[in-house]
Amino acid sequence: MAATPHAASRTPRADALYSRVRSVIPAMEWPVFAEDIEAILDLKRQRDAVILAHNYQTPEIFHTVADITGDSLALAREAMRVDAKVIVLAGVHFMAETAKLLNPEKTVLIPDTRAGCSLASSITAADVRLMKARHPGVPVIAYVNTSADVKAEVDICCTSGNARAIVESLGVPEVIMLPDEYLAQNVARETHVRIIAWAGHCEVHERFTAREIADLRAAHPGVTVLAHPECPPEVVAAADFAGSTAAMSDYVTTQHPARVVLLTECSMSDNVALAHPGTEFIRPCNLCPHMKRITLGNIRTALETMTHEVTIDPALAARARASVERMLAVPVPRAPARPVLAA
Ligand code: 13P
Ligand code: SF4
Repeated sequence: MAATPHAASRTPRADALYSRVRSVIPAMEWPVFAEDIEAILDLKRQRDAVILAHNYQTPEIFHTVADITGDSLALAREAMRVDAKVIVLAGVHFMAETAKLLNPEKTVLIPDTRAGCSLASSITAADVRLMKARHPGVPVIAYVNTSADVKAEVDICCTSGNARAIVESLGVPEVIMLPDEYLAQNVARETHVRIIAWAGHCEVHERFTAREIADLRAAHPGVTVLAHPECPPEVVAAADFAGSTAAMSDYVTTQHPARVVLLTECSMSDNVALAHPGTEFIRPCNLCPHMKRITLGNIRTALETMTHEVTIDPALAARARASVERMLAVPVPRAPARPVLAA
């Protein structure tokens, strides 16, 4: 195993990165990852490509080959600033579509087309038209966790990082917010705007319970509980803080809790823990099977074969892009996107 660079190593640049993930990837497993990482570093240069990785990507992706990491809002913002010709989206399909909407002239690749999202698949464009017919004149806000078809039907998008600001930016007494029922209910508790919701749920976050939090507090005295706003309202109410994946990460950075639990996807704790060795991370978490479809192997294949390219009908894309751009024009505190690799 070559965990430190040396003259004979076939993977010297990858080995130099091992120290970033040493505490979560056993040395014995490293050579398997190192070969793909070395190849990806070469391919990124050859293809003039950047890798945008969501906070739920596994540490060997997040901490080694990713150029930009962040939450959905940060990835959308960074997608607009990318200079490279090719964007590989290490995340789920709606994130790759958003990157394509904002970069129609660039090649956007998703390493596995099956990387979906239970929220995105909970609603269709026809459903949105039905909602609009039922509530004429009420503005419609779509969570970015939706298809381009759905984004094309709505007035504006939001993410978990700006949902309340978007709701209040419209200056109306009532909005439709879809498809995440729990996000809508959690925002409704913080605003006077009446929110009409859709019954979509995130299959990862809907499984957390308030009972689980009570058990965690009993088993780990003093633990700080951070929850994603896709969790049910009773979970958010029982937590110490709720926010987007970037906001949870920032909370740990700025508040330095001695013990923390992140009620969200499992890789998030791994990624944040690597940057905060002084904090004890308690780890009940739920895996997102869609995020986990992305691997170093299929990122490498995506760059070797230039697949799978995300394409969106131009007329539909223009309407969907307008919804995303309206969101990006609303001023909110910026979720940080961290450049991680200067390779
Ligand atoms: P964030 O925008 O908070 O990163 O959330 C995206 C997501 O899919 C959470 O499940
Ligand atoms: Fe979708 Fe939930 Fe997975 Fe996020 S964690 S991509 S909302 S299924």
